[in-house]
Amino acid sequence: MDDYRLDLLFSKDEIDSMVRRLGEEIARDYRHKELVLVCILKGAFMFLSDLIRHLPFSVQIDFVRLKSYGAGMRSSGVIEITKDVEIDLEGKDVLIVEDIIDSGRTIQFLKDRLAIANPRSIRVCALLDKKARREVEASADYLGADVEDVFVVGYGIDFKESYRNLPEIYYVTPLRA
Ligand code: IMP
Ligand code: MG
Repeated sequence: MDDYRLDLLFSKDEIDSMVRRLGEEIARDYRHKELVLVCILKGAFMFLSDLIRHLPFSVQIDFVRLKSYGAGMRSSGVIEITKDVEIDLEGKDVLIVEDIIDSGRTIQFLKDRLAIANPRSIRVCALLDKKARREVEASADYLGADVEDVFVVGYGIDFKESYRNLPEIYYVTPLRA
């Protein structure tokens, strides 16, 4: 029943050059700022770790873990923080680091939630964006690439907690026997 095919979407080289370009854009905009990158666990952990190596000045990093309630593949839109930031964000420039923007609910929720701490600014860096699936307003200030409405895995991104360790990004096609 659970039979899937993985097809390559982004090679390691393509991901590397996307991340390098994003690092350069961020480095240009945030030099001399107090930048805190807030990584959304678990999907963005690999992206964050590569991204910060392209920033030629000291930054702080923190992590949040979100839980989204819902039946099946679609999230209900009810989101809860299960691991909050630990750094005081007041007066800081915050950059949320996310793997994929889908419905937009995660980003919308987290921006509102982090704003309570009174940061100087909040922006979003996303590796991938599925704009066709947007349900609420959300966008990336720094974006790796747009993707079609496909389910992707690899480079930190999972399907049922598997495939996060793949160095490349693949799209998943269910196979019907
Ligand atoms: P949103 O709140 O609907 O924008 O959901 C974004 C989250 O859904 C991402 O952080 C991912 O964890 C997850 N997600 C969305 N699309 C995919 C996918 O294609 N593969 C794996 N996870 C995905
Ligand atoms: Mg995620």
